[in-house]
Amino acid sequence: MAKDTSDTAQGPAHVAIIMDGNGRWAQQRGRPRLFGHHAGAKRVREIVESCPVLGVKYLTIFAFSTENWKRTQAEVSGLMRLFRKYFEKEAKALFKDGVRVRFIGDRIKLDEKLVTLMDNLELHTAGNDRVHLTIALNYGGRDEVTRAAQRMAIEIEEGRLTHAEVDAETLTRFLDTRFLPDPDLVIRTSGEARISNFLLWQSAYSEYEFVDTLWPDFTAAEFSEILSGFGARERRFGGAKV
Ligand code: IPE
Ligand code: IPE
Ligand code: MG
Repeated sequence: MAKDTSDTAQGPAHVAIIMDGNGRWAQQRGRPRLFGHHAGAKRVREIVESCPVLGVKYLTIFAFSTENWKRTQAEVSGLMRLFRKYFEKEAKALFKDGVRVRFIGDRIKLDEKLVTLMDNLELHTAGNDRVHLTIALNYGGRDEVTRAAQRMAIEIEEGRLTHAEVDAETLTRFLDTRFLPDPDLVIRTSGEARISNFLLWQSAYSEYEFVDTLWPDFTAAEFSEILSGFGARERRFGGAKV
């Protein structure tokens, strides 16, 4: 296990990644899209393991969006199978590496077996604190805010919340990400420069980095390089330098 950096390290504490480009990576090799998803899943371990060394305490990864159900049934069921296999196989390594795993997104559309594996992984790693890995699965920013608004409406109906108490801080407490700080940096691979419904509310003041590398080719070395560029950015949060 590599030595962790000190807590005072300069880099971003929370990095979120849109892991894009698996399909194109496979197509370039004349292989089916699922081949790319398998290669993409294999990249995750190296990136997670590099986090403590690079001073990243929170890593959030986009695995499946609320819009990804539009893909062929074969691709969707292949991805769901891959998630099940991955959570089963990686549980030990994640635990050993001190990773606390949590999920964001709506579980209602996911199959029972997968949800059980997700629950177990969360439970099993709940005592870990070295890296906080959040996996966005059936996640969409608009869907998350909508579900939060519904839950707030229920609390108001039941008299546990008043409309006057609804402010940005209250809404944040109803989001799937309530346990997370906002991302400092959002990285998207594969050359697309869009958010695709990822962490809409939370990334209001995040820095963005778009890289051309397809996700299955993304390495810890490239990750580290991006993070070293982060320190040079001047974040103003709407204020002005005087
Ligand atoms: C990202 O890779 C993984 C998921 C969305 C599940 P893609 O499958 O979107 O790959 P491209 O964008 O088609 O290359
Ligand atoms: C975003 O990628 C979702 C994930 C990486 C899981 P997509 O490939 O689904 O996004 P679009 O369709 O190119 O915007
Ligand atoms: Mg894509």
